[in-house]
Amino acid sequence: MSHNVRISIGIVILIALSILFLFGVVHTAAAASRSGSRAVAEGHRLAQAWCQSCHAIEPRRDGFFDEAPSFQSIADRKGTTALSLKVFWRTSHQNMPNLVISPEQAEVLSAYILSLRRN
Ligand code: HEC
Repeated sequence: MSHNVRISIGIVILIALSILFLFGVVHTAAAASRSGSRAVAEGHRLAQAWCQSCHAIEPRRDGFFDEAPSFQSIADRKGTTALSLKVFWRTSHQNMPNLVISPEQAEVLSAYILSLRRN
């Protein structure tokens, strides 16, 4: 086998590996965004079941209840992150009943609230 042929076989293999790698990256990114929107939908469902009695939970609804802030206004606040929400649910608060929220439920509820963010 001549030297040149060996180099071009090497290049072909390199290109094939790059294509496989790119497919892998694209595929993983697509899967991640799919599971992200599933989390948001699941969080919305939980919010309808558990939070709606006190909070305005739908997008662009600013609060119509006096005490509980709307999920929209919580989402728009600068300090709100998945972590700050989790911390809030783990601590006790004055006016909101201490709900027992599992880690998975906290995950999807914060995914839903953060999906409302406008800024
Ligand atoms: C019985 C009424 C009630 C229910 C049910 C309720 N909340 Fe609340 N929530 C409140 C009130 C009142 C406040 C504001 C006072 C406070 O911070 O304790 C509050 C505050 C919050 C805050 C913090 C907002 C801030 O100022 O940082 C978050 C986040 C929140 N609620 C999420 C939820 C989620 C998620 C659910 C459903 C799993 C839920 N709440 C269910 C009454 C309620």
